[in-house]
Amino acid sequence: MRLRDLIVNNRFFKSIYRTGYPDTARKRVMVVINSLALHLHPVRVPKRAVRVTYTWGLGGLSIFMFVILTITGVFLMFYYVPSVREAYWSVVSLDTSVMMGQFMRNMHRWAAHMMVLMVLLHMTRVFYTGSYKPPRDFNWVIGIVLLVLTMLLSFTGYLLPWDQLAYWAITVGAEMGGSAPFVGKQVNIALLGGFEIGQATLIRWYTLHVIFLPLLLIVVVSMHFWRVRKDGNISTPIYPAEAAPEEVRRRLQGSAPANDEMA
Ligand code: HEM
Repeated sequence: MRLRDLIVNNRFFKSIYRTGYPDTARKRVMVVINSLALHLHPVRVPKRAVRVTYTWGLGGLSIFMFVILTITGVFLMFYYVPSVREAYWSVVSLDTSVMMGQFMRNMHRWAAHMMVLMVLLHMTRVFYTGSYKPPRDFNWVIGIVLLVLTMLLSFTGYLLPWDQLAYWAITVGAEMGGSAPFVGKQVNIALLGGFEIGQATLIRWYTLHVIFLPLLLIVVVSMHFWRVRKDGNISTPIYPAEAAPEEVRRRLQGSAPANDEMA
């Protein structure tokens, strides 16, 4: 107890945490409201909505994968060279000569696969709990944007090793874009950065992969979390009155929720 006082009762601690040590419900609320990162999260969440078997933590796991991708991706950027002559060999040297290089590369790859899987499962959970319905319909649309961004991040990363797999993947991708009606030719040139695959293509996709798409994803994810808060927190199951558990029936009958129903 005295050690805690020593840490929290001084000017330095209070200059960072203005509300002091969060030892009351009010102070805990203030911590969330006053924090840049935490205030994206709802202050009060019904216990039932955060039950593991309701959300399965899948949105949280999606963002966790993104965090792993960012950390390992920055590590890879120290060694990767986005040039058609050196890209492949810089990836080979990551596997053979850089300490923890192969581990970091594998972490990055597996986290990318897992992020696609988690986002798809999260979307499935949202669908099966009916959470896409008003007032959460706009957040569903934001979610679709996140799904597309996740796919684009995967696809642009696929090109970077500049091996046969990458070369033919971008060929297929650019051809698919090229077959779009009316604007096909322009799309094809935009994707390749010219008329054929080369340095302009690599630098274009590299910039998309390491800067543009991750930044955009961070902005859109922030909107997504903000909307969860603004749309009345995570959805909760709606029961016909007679089938509702006791706790819900009390609420439906208008009695105020007990404090311990909120997490
Ligand atoms: C980068 C991708 C994504 C991340 C990091 C993310 C993260 C989250 C988180 C943390 C929550 C809080 C509840 C939970 O964990 O289930 C949430 C809720 C929600 N997400 Fe996502 N999400 C992503 C993609 C999507 C997609 C693809 C959709 C659907 C198209 C979607 C639709 C929603 C909706 C409608 C809610 C509110 C659900 C409710 O209130 O029950 N999200 N998301």
